[in-house]
Amino acid sequence: MRIDIITVLPELIKSPFEASILKRAIAKGLVEVHFHNLRDYSTNKHKNVDDYQFGGGAGMVMSIEPIDKCITKLKAERTYDEIIYMTPDGQTLNQQVANAMSMFENIIILCGHYKGVDQRVRDHFITREISIGDYVLSGGELGAAVLCDAIIRLIPGVLSNETSALTDSFQDNLLAPPIYTRPAEYKGWKVPDILLSGNFPEIEKWREEKAYEHTKNRRPDLLENE
Ligand code: ADE
Repeated sequence: MRIDIITVLPELIKSPFEASILKRAIAKGLVEVHFHNLRDYSTNKHKNVDDYQFGGGAGMVMSIEPIDKCITKLKAERTYDEIIYMTPDGQTLNQQVANAMSMFENIIILCGHYKGVDQRVRDHFITREISIGDYVLSGGELGAAVLCDAIIRLIPGVLSNETSALTDSFQDNLLAPPIYTRPAEYKGWKVPDILLSGNFPEIEKWREEKAYEHTKNRRPDLLENE
């Protein structure tokens, strides 16, 4: 997969790709991430990428021209599955969305800033709008990092034990069951006996029951469409 990230603040989004699973995914060649500084596509001498709102109102708006130049250049080089805009009024990211997006070959992610982008960018270039939740961030970069992390860890070969993504919370619309490691007893607090029994069919059954119970308590909404 190739991900092209368009941003006015590349320094804000680079570090998540320089550690742990994302770093390894890049090193293994399973994903390529390219950062494009929108200011490099500005045509004015101050490298501005924003302007005042037509009709008045507080806050600057990201201009269409540098975004057009950047997206058009990228689209001339390859075909993109989606051109995504990070925005609080987009479709809320969830595990199903991440699963579907992990199948893509090439995507562009545009990070918004200030009041957002000129509506014509959304109307003519963007194919999908994603929000990471019902709150407003200072810009789309942190949201883009969250989206990339959620997608990249699902690409086959990224996690060393592929089944571990399959047992994550939200896969199958269930939250993950409780997990334990050594010691089997700490300050009198014991690990459930079943997990030490070696009876794997029973352990699997216990995990399924716990996952269901936990989901029913915390997120009954996830069970509504079952
Ligand atoms: N930009 C600002 N707020 C955002 C959010 N909640 N999700 C995605 N991008 C954003």
